[in-house]
Amino acid sequence: MDISTELEKAINEQIGIEFSASYAYLSMAAYFERNAFDGFAKWMHLQSEEERLHAMKFYQYLIDRGGVARIPSIPAPDWDFESVIKVFEASLEQERDVTRHIYGLYKIAQDESDFATVSFLKWFVDEQVEEEKSVSDMIDKLKMAQGNLDSLLLLDRYAMERKPERQA
Ligand code: FEO
Repeated sequence: MDISTELEKAINEQIGIEFSASYAYLSMAAYFERNAFDGFAKWMHLQSEEERLHAMKFYQYLIDRGGVARIPSIPAPDWDFESVIKVFEASLEQERDVTRHIYGLYKIAQDESDFATVSFLKWFVDEQVEEEKSVSDMIDKLKMAQGNLDSLLLLDRYAMERKPERQA
């Protein structure tokens, strides 16, 4: 069964959202590299690559279901930030926005009784819980640091330990 026109359109939009997230994280990585926070930069590079892989998962799924991929344009991301914590707050907002879009897709798939798409989307629903949690945890730690440079450098080293996510 080919995918519906409505889901095809929504998945194409999602491909754009995931690539936008990838670009935004790359831009955040560049900000950290300019400011000599190598651990935070690595975190954002990993995140950028994960988002690219998310986009490719949607792309491949669309192709596998007989859909037409129309890759949307991507707006330029923010490139400058007030502080370390502002970057992570922007990241959390972005993840929440991605979650809202995934839920929107899930709802369309459910309403159409497209159970293959419902099943495909479950990985993303779980992934968003993890992504929001890891960013929220970092924001909590950054709040405790209260902008103290020694504490920020410790957190930067902690961020350096981050491993790539397990891909399903
Ligand atoms: Fe692909 Fe972080 O959502």
